[in-house]
Amino acid sequence: MAGIYIHIPFCKTKCHYCDFYKSTDFASRPDFLSALKIEIQSRTNELSDEKIESIYFGGGTPSVLKVSEISAILDQIFNNYPVAEDVEITMECNPDDLSAAFLSELRKSPVNRLSIGTQSFNDQDLKSMNRRHNGNQAITAVKLAQESGFSNISIDLIYGLPNQMLEQWKLNVEQAIQLNVSHISAYHLTYHEGTVFYDYLKTGKIKELPDELSFDQFKLLKAALENAGFEHYEISNFAKSGLYSRHNRAYWQRKSYLGFGPSAHSFDLKTRRWNVSSLRKYLQAFELNTPYWENEILTEQDKYNDYVITSLRTIWGISDQYLEDHFQGRFHDHFKQEAKKFIASHHLAFDDGSYKLNREGLFISDKIMEQLLYVED
Ligand SMILES: C[S@@+](CC[C@H](N)C(=O)[O-])C[C@H]1O[C@@H](n2cnc3c(N)ncnc32)[C@H](O)[C@@H]1O
Ligand code: SF4
Repeated sequence: MAGIYIHIPFCKTKCHYCDFYKSTDFASRPDFLSALKIEIQSRTNELSDEKIESIYFGGGTPSVLKVSEISAILDQIFNNYPVAEDVEITMECNPDDLSAAFLSELRKSPVNRLSIGTQSFNDQDLKSMNRRHNGNQAITAVKLAQESGFSNISIDLIYGLPNQMLEQWKLNVEQAIQLNVSHISAYHLTYHEGTVFYDYLKTGKIKELPDELSFDQFKLLKAALENAGFEHYEISNFAKSGLYSRHNRAYWQRKSYLGFGPSAHSFDLKTRRWNVSSLRKYLQAFELNTPYWENEILTEQDKYNDYVITSLRTIWGISDQYLEDHFQGRFHDHFKQEAKKFIASHHLAFDDGSYKLNREGLFISDKIMEQLLYVED
């Protein structure tokens, strides 16, 4: 089993929190689509005969493309890779791109899952993030997608925003539940260097939300969604009826994936590769027939750290047997010694052969992970 990720590097405007690679200059869109086509065709030998079980259009903003352009990219994949019949094909969409006409056309394409970036339903939050839509548009976009026949819909929310009070967040969560979608990703705001929010934070224009309030928001989110029938299967992800994101689950379960487009990452269990995070350099490389990526061969230490990073935050946790089979000796010993501390402090539990974070542990997972990772002195 393997996955394919396609990075669409265009956004109409830039949101204040976002550091995903994107450009607001659409002039090179035709060149990008041509280069992408070549990249897809040229990397067929990298996955042996593994079936492609998930395809994910991320960005940037995939929904700025025409449906015919999305379909052409998919045709190129179908013509060059062994794609499973029941492949999950997700497309990230911005609410303001989702008109009834666009959605009804998209419904006729092989795309069968939408991830809609609602972020919040509160106009003030949305304005502060520099989103292009308001709360009503976010709600309408999800409803239109449902009316167009999409049944597997995920929405994104962001919490921990500056000045976001608990009551305000509660309304957001309740609105998300009312929309009756099958999947919700709720991310705590991260301040990334180079973003407007990061500058505002450094210059004192905004303040980070206190940890206690962030934790209250997290607890409210978890309790409300679980109460509404969602399973909290990864720190930021909730699914109904086992409708996990197949694509993300493949990342967490260490399956191979190929990433196409600028800044896209690829992984084949032994090597990591990342394409250049510049559309200009990506296009230039295709013109001059020079490399547009870098890669690294993973050491045993990298593989151990990757396993901890990708598994710790999921409900499946870190398998003791997997550690024993793959990292016997100093890595497994290090893990057991560090894990003991967090079991004693009730942040981590050993359950059914696996180490799993509990609610308190999930909220401070970064700090716990730091200790569990193996770093040579
Ligand atoms: C590739 S991005 C955006 C997809 C799409 N262009 C959109 O804006 O809806 C995927 C998701 O990551 C989340 N995200 C991006 N930057 C974030 C940050 N700094 N903190 C928390 N969540 C973030 C947002 O919820 C976003 O919808
Ligand atoms: S959140 Fe989405 S629309 Fe906003 S800048 Fe990032 S990728 Fe673009």
